[in-house]
Amino acid sequence: MINAKITAVSTYVPEQVITNQWFEDKIETQDEWIVSRTGIRERRFAAEHQFTSDLAVKAVENLIRENPSIAIQAVDFIIVATTTADQVMPSTASRVQNHFAIPNAGCIDVMAACAGFVYGVILAKGLVAAGTHQKILVIGAETLSKFTDFSDRSSCILFGDAAGVALVECSAQAGIFNGITGTDGSHGKDLYLSQNNRLINGEEVVVNGKIHQNGRVVYKWAVQHMGEKITELLALNKLQIADLDWIILHSANLRIIEAVALSINYPMDRMLTSLELFGNTSSASIPLAWDLAARAGTLKKGDKALLLGFGGGLTYAGVIVEI
Ligand code: UT7
Repeated sequence: MINAKITAVSTYVPEQVITNQWFEDKIETQDEWIVSRTGIRERRFAAEHQFTSDLAVKAVENLIRENPSIAIQAVDFIIVATTTADQVMPSTASRVQNHFAIPNAGCIDVMAACAGFVYGVILAKGLVAAGTHQKILVIGAETLSKFTDFSDRSSCILFGDAAGVALVECSAQAGIFNGITGTDGSHGKDLYLSQNNRLINGEEVVVNGKIHQNGRVVYKWAVQHMGEKITELLALNKLQIADLDWIILHSANLRIIEAVALSINYPMDRMLTSLELFGNTSSASIPLAWDLAARAGTLKKGDKALLLGFGGGLTYAGVIVEI
């Protein structure tokens, strides 16, 4: 089998900083509540004219600038994980292809909410392993602020806008190991963004193009199951938890990350996050945490990291990578 590896990662966040205090003027909330319940202090919002594809393009521009040896024209597939696409079609990936005038790239958007980036990495590995593709951009990009219900204080304080990109290439040694994926669709109505069908699993939902979340249910589901998924993923790859240098769990809520770390007896200082300054950026949160740690010099070449995304579906995807 042909091996695949993530050879470069970069990110982009919009300029507009939104502090917790910003919400205090608009809804009944306090900085102290937000920090103690979520760990979030700030997030970024895209400008009115900035859409998800614009953030994705900026992340790829940063990737190219920081890695001048990347032959972007040789990219042969683009996967954009997003729940906040500019439009359903053309895909966000097609917009990225067009911006860089990449001559021969298949393009798809993946809708797997906050697990989307890891789904993308697993799909990219599969294409490389099949021998049909050699150079794949996996992008997680979101403009959640455009789909946020700012009258719902339990969800609006969570979300931020960002984009992250990973280049997946064939390699001599394995850099992306076996992944796991799974879904419990019975929880569909616990986290949804409805623009069309009024029913989810036969139950009526709000159709207003905004994100709706039953926070307590999603919280409980994540804390109950993500620890066991980490153990499952390690067993699948015949690895021990001590073989991991880092775990990057989707940055939804610091309390979820702490509870999952505790459930598998893993030190919190080895859990990489991106939520403190960027909030919950859905499919961008994992590459953002990766990039922050790499820039800080903590995440290094040769390290093993377990990536685990979870979110609307409810769905999850996990994979272990060697940096
Ligand atoms: O990214 C996709 C996956 N998503 C997630 O993983 C999110 C999972 N859920 C969560 O992170 C948490 O459930 C939230 C952060 C959304 C909410 O935190 P919580 O600790 O579960 O709060 P809660 O919903 O149980 O609410 C506790 C109290 C309530 O008041 P009462 O009923 O106890 O009087 C809420 O009305 O906190 C109140 N509350 C707030 N108070 C101040 C809810 N939102 C706010 C707020 N400011 N923004």
